[in-house]
Amino acid sequence: MATPSAKTNGLPLVASPRPPAYPSMLPKKPTQRRRSLSCRAAAPRFDRRDVLAGLTGVAAGGLATRPGLAATEDASDVCPRGEKVTDTLLTCQKTGQKPCPPTSPVAAVDFTPPTGPTRLRQPAHLADPETVEKYRRALAKMKALPASDPRSFAAQAAIHEAYCDGHYRYGGGGGDAPFDVHFSWVFAPWHRMYLYFYERILGDLIGDDTFALPYWNWDAPAGMALPDIFKDAGSPLYDAKRNPANLGAYLNLHIAKAGDTTVIPFDPQAAHLNNQVVQNNLATLYVQMMRNKKAQDFLGGKFCSSYPGTRSSGTSGSLESMAHTSVHVWTGDPGSSTTGHDGQKHSLADMGFLATAARDPVFYSHHANVDRMWHLWSTKLGRRNFDDPEWLDTSFVFYDERPRPVRIRVRDVLDAAALGYSYDEREPLRWMGARPAPLLANKGAAAARSTMRRAVPAFPLALTEGQVVEVPSVAKPRRAQKAAAGGGGKQPADTILVFDGVEFEPGKGGKFDVVINVPPEQAAGAGPRHSEYAGSFATLPRGGSKKPGETVVVPFVLPLDEVLADIGVGDEDGAVNVVIVPRTPGIKIISPPRIEIRER
Ligand code: C2O
Repeated sequence: MATPSAKTNGLPLVASPRPPAYPSMLPKKPTQRRRSLSCRAAAPRFDRRDVLAGLTGVAAGGLATRPGLAATEDASDVCPRGEKVTDTLLTCQKTGQKPCPPTSPVAAVDFTPPTGPTRLRQPAHLADPETVEKYRRALAKMKALPASDPRSFAAQAAIHEAYCDGHYRYGGGGGDAPFDVHFSWVFAPWHRMYLYFYERILGDLIGDDTFALPYWNWDAPAGMALPDIFKDAGSPLYDAKRNPANLGAYLNLHIAKAGDTTVIPFDPQAAHLNNQVVQNNLATLYVQMMRNKKAQDFLGGKFCSSYPGTRSSGTSGSLESMAHTSVHVWTGDPGSSTTGHDGQKHSLADMGFLATAARDPVFYSHHANVDRMWHLWSTKLGRRNFDDPEWLDTSFVFYDERPRPVRIRVRDVLDAAALGYSYDEREPLRWMGARPAPLLANKGAAAARSTMRRAVPAFPLALTEGQVVEVPSVAKPRRAQKAAAGGGGKQPADTILVFDGVEFEPGKGGKFDVVINVPPEQAAGAGPRHSEYAGSFATLPRGGSKKPGETVVVPFVLPLDEVLADIGVGDEDGAVNVVIVPRTPGIKIISPPRIEIRER
């Protein structure tokens, strides 16, 4: 076995000559620099020079064989690829004992797939008593371990905290910015890895390698409430910091902030399908799962360590920004208060603030369902993951059940079966058929009426909650022509709505909806159940700001083809009205949205 060399702790993102995730959302600027980014999770303390040596070697080896980057790269992408590693890598900033991972005397080993029996993850609301009992027992043991043990519940929760509250820093462009496993294409694979090790540790603690996490089946009507197994105050699965108003209520997958909707008591015996909240939830899932067909729309944009100015990390896919974010916001306790790494007070602990979310055991069952959504999207729905080596070779280090640090790559976690688990599908996937229907009966007339009378608002545009803004006559390129001219791409071209920059304070959550061709006075009534609803920008509060009031700017893209088809906008229509419905205060939109044809 290797000596405890820090070399094995380097976790490079290796660059590739593939085109950027989003072709033209950022200002034109040639990209010549190459970058590799190192990240480490739950990794031992290391000698920085060794890390640099190790990483530089990997990066150079990975890149030297990939010439032609500049030739194939879209010049408008400002996110550099494969830039040479500098001493500004990821480091975990420790405050007190938390939440950076404990050090290890041994070097990280490469991940090898498990060989034991398949672990079958059951819906939490239908889980058999034996499984629930196992989880209680395992979690009690995990909680009894000292925090210094990387397998302890405290240490497990701290991993998530370190990765989303600004403890891990990277130095892109010589700066010192928070690294985050949310808001980019890192989201889905990182959380799959995290759950994998959490589940394996629990199984090991009770000596049962069939142990599998129950999943919160919130995409099925009968699962649209906090599962009962988490409610017993005497159980290790319990957490006191949850919104008391929602404990017995229907879950709302389109929530913007605590208390913004009427609470409807959940009745397990009810015929849920007649319920408006349930219908809204199913439509939200339809949009998240069925309309977001491409990897960048579903999984999120490329992680970028050096967006210029205040740009940070990337953009969320629908997997993260829709149902996932709502469940966090819905579960967290608005009456709670916790201090983030930024020194600011945050509410909505535990689940509604990223730094504290993983302290609630329901987090892992929630994320098991997020993971299942990704699994269904890539298997049942037949969608394609990224094939970009920069994504596939992204890797992190986690402690396994021994405990020993293990390096695992995105390409290791693309298939649940290869990781030894599967999902017990017990409920029908009703959201697959929940395609939205138009709000407005006479679509064409409504559009024309709306186009005639409004002035273009001024940008940057600061959104005020409840104040709808219409951007009239946004030019719509012709899809068919552009697609024919483009050619070459493996996937069909599609029409996308692009917001170059959405600016917000990372410590505060925020949301706005986007609807198409609805008169502003009716727009607030358009939601996921309506074809005119194009999607939402949504973000959970995260830490890591250096100073209060500091903002980040991220791009935001929505696929538009199905919306346009369903509301009767055809090739002959040269423009649509884009209506922005702010659901929270505090968001600024930098420049007017535009419609593009994306070739990939
Ligand atoms: Cu890492 Cu649901 O968040």
